[in-house]
Amino acid sequence: MSLLDVQGLRTEYRSGKQIVAAVDGVDLTVAAGETVGLVGESGCGKSSLGKTVLRLIPAASGRVMLDGTDILPLNGRALAPHRRRMQMVFQDPSASLNPRQTVRTLLQTPLKVHGVADRSALVATLLDRVGLERTALDRLPHEFSGGQRQRIGIARALVLRPELLVCDEPVSALDLSIQAGILNLLADLKRDFGLAYLFISHDLGVVRYMADRVLVMYLGRIVESAGQASLWQGPRHPYTRALLASVPGATHGGAPPLRGELARPGTGCRFRTRCPQAEARCAAEDPALRTVAEGHSAACHFA
Ligand SMILES: Nc1ncnc2c1ncn2[C@@H]1O[C@H](COP(=O)(O)OP(=O)(O)OP(=O)(O)O)[C@@H](O)[C@H]1O
Ligand code: SF4
Ligand SMILES: [Mg+2]
Repeated sequence: MSLLDVQGLRTEYRSGKQIVAAVDGVDLTVAAGETVGLVGESGCGKSSLGKTVLRLIPAASGRVMLDGTDILPLNGRALAPHRRRMQMVFQDPSASLNPRQTVRTLLQTPLKVHGVADRSALVATLLDRVGLERTALDRLPHEFSGGQRQRIGIARALVLRPELLVCDEPVSALDLSIQAGILNLLADLKRDFGLAYLFISHDLGVVRYMADRVLVMYLGRIVESAGQASLWQGPRHPYTRALLASVPGATHGGAPPLRGELARPGTGCRFRTRCPQAEARCAAEDPALRTVAEGHSAACHFA
């Protein structure tokens, strides 16, 4: 059984009279200790998916199974023990850190809420582990650099010893020179704590470095899923090929880079308005995600 098993997940936003499904029937699994990358261009629904899994925003339908228990129907006390097993690392840690709380308070509060003893010792150890000095404890978030602030955000996500972290673009707001340090830290923490990651990024290079398996998302759906080597050596979906066309050293079968903008056609394949291989069938039939090789699936009639 997978640690996380998401089935048929749907997340809707209402704008005026219109309902838009930002997540539109997503299935995915993350095994204990595994890093699953989630890629796709801006607006395809990556953050909405991550937040729905963590119950930060409501699901319209579907299941989020954590170790076999569907957590979507749970609330309050019934949800609490499941919720602490999954945490989020945000792109902009400032937005998730109360600016008036010292690092000590920020890190100790979740422990207090969950009735954990020995809080000072736990927090001090964790601070070392993410590469911050003890003197950080009495300082406020704004007194740190962007990279240090992300280390605080990571420490906060880890304080309750979760098994899964959803990392949503954790380095994309940071200077290039700082990014590698944070990625290495996440890789070390994964090994030390046996963590699993759902690692969201629009940067394919970052995902290539971090992920064991990669999911490619387009307009609310997973359109390709593969182990990282088979995705980079043999992408099967035209959208993935177009994304990889801009990555040095990746195989993309001569596909041109992505053209046009996200637009949702009313029928058929949702990528057809931008697909260089689209045929009549693509307008009539919506392709399902199907297995194309061992451990590799794609949602294209011709994959
Ligand atoms: N609170 C909201 N209300 C209405 N629509 C929203 C809301 N949040 C997101 N959306 C819409 O849902 C879609 C998916 O957005 P989401 O933020 O999940 O994408 P994303 O893949 O994370 O993009 P990015 O790479 O820019 O972070 C977009 O069309 C977006 O405009
Ligand atoms: S089903 Fe058709 S439009 Fe969709 S990705 Fe495949 S070839 Fe392109
Ligand atoms: Mg996002």
